[in-house]
Amino acid sequence: MPNTLPEPYRIKVVEPIQLIPPEARESALREAGYNLFSLKAEDIFIDLLTDSGTGAMSQEQWAAIMRGDESYAGARSYHRLKAAVEDIFGFKYFVPTHQGRAAENILSAVLVRPGNYIPSNMHFDTTDANIRARGGRPANLVIDEAYDPENPHPFKGNMDVAKLRAFIETIGVANIPFGMLTVTNNAGGGQPVSMENIRAVAGIYREYGIPFFIDAARYAENCYFIRQREHGYAQKSVKEIAREMFSLADGMTMSAKKDAIVNIGGLLCLNAESTFQHIRNELILREGFPTYGGLAGRDLDAMAVGLYEGLQEDYLAHRLGQTAFLAARLNEAGIPTIQPAGGHGVYINAGAILPHIPQHEFPAQSLAVELYRAGGIRGVEIGSVMFACLDPETNQWHYPKLELLRLAIPRRTYTHSHLSYVADILAEIKERAGQLRGYKYTYAPELLRHFTARFEPL
Ligand code: F0G
Repeated sequence: MPNTLPEPYRIKVVEPIQLIPPEARESALREAGYNLFSLKAEDIFIDLLTDSGTGAMSQEQWAAIMRGDESYAGARSYHRLKAAVEDIFGFKYFVPTHQGRAAENILSAVLVRPGNYIPSNMHFDTTDANIRARGGRPANLVIDEAYDPENPHPFKGNMDVAKLRAFIETIGVANIPFGMLTVTNNAGGGQPVSMENIRAVAGIYREYGIPFFIDAARYAENCYFIRQREHGYAQKSVKEIAREMFSLADGMTMSAKKDAIVNIGGLLCLNAESTFQHIRNELILREGFPTYGGLAGRDLDAMAVGLYEGLQEDYLAHRLGQTAFLAARLNEAGIPTIQPAGGHGVYINAGAILPHIPQHEFPAQSLAVELYRAGGIRGVEIGSVMFACLDPETNQWHYPKLELLRLAIPRRTYTHSHLSYVADILAEIKERAGQLRGYKYTYAPELLRHFTARFEPL
């Protein structure tokens, strides 16, 4: 077992959670149609559905909330956020947005035209959907190692630069209004991108004159991985690494609900003045005046403080230590997870634990339901429920390569004893995995099925 760092904070306010009795969990599951999105939060003991907006704010953030200036225009809160954004990211222009997907929506509204292509290592699903909503086509050009769950490549989020170059040559620069890179790569297991790769990708985009935007939701975790794993960065501060990373890009979108440790908020930053003017107009239409962008003044202040806390090295060491600890405990119990452990979560290879359940009977969903039944723990299925799609021409189902259960770790929220409990419950399930059964739909909407589908055990 790895040595574990104690939490670099102590607890001043507590939020009670309770493990309801087994019969109550069983009836909650039945009522929810075996879909964990439909459970009541109060019926959940440990909630690892997402690390987005679910972290604990610090005493300084709560104090900042009290200083929030709710002026419609030009609030002090905006100027405090502006100072932090300029200091950390260094772009010329920025607007706040209510969350990450709002930044993606506005960027896509301004730059994507029908038939355009947007390359990235892997787009997160809201980015993918916002590009498609404007008639564009997202393209995922991550290195092949990303699809091999056992491969321990230290930067499995890297873009395949040869694929990127070939893609641009085939599609043509005129059809690529901008290119992206997601750090860390959530859709690929929370895996980091190396500075060397970011520099190479930026170089190719620059060579072809394609503006380069970073999806910076988990940029601080990515920078800490660079510091730990990439030659030449061990002596640099995380903030210096961040400055170097963003100096290579022309702009960024960010869900501040992750590495800025706020419950709500986002950012859209860039250097190009004319694009910024369009963005500002679009923002006024959809989100709000450019100095608040769909947020309250207090939210801007909490973000200004959280941006710095997200870069603190003792916090990052502990946080990445938590996911590594949980993954190591699971691996010791013979439970395979995507290697190496990601930044914000542990991705369990449910398909490998439940080889007797075929993909059309949803092995990762079966494991997710059992984890709640056995321990009151909620994870999220990232497998055939989320991604299988019916080809309208052949009427055949296409299934994803992997059946995963993601356990996302909210920031500063759960302790090592919570994570040990999660590992113990999973180890116990692993012992009787052969008895688990698959599920079938009793209701499944056509789009974004996983949120509202209902199931029945087989
Ligand atoms: N980009 C990445 C890499 C994300 O992980 C997310 C959200 C977004 C953009 C969108 O941000 O939710 O603020 O609109 N990821 C969450 C998750 C929902 O659970 O992984 P948002």
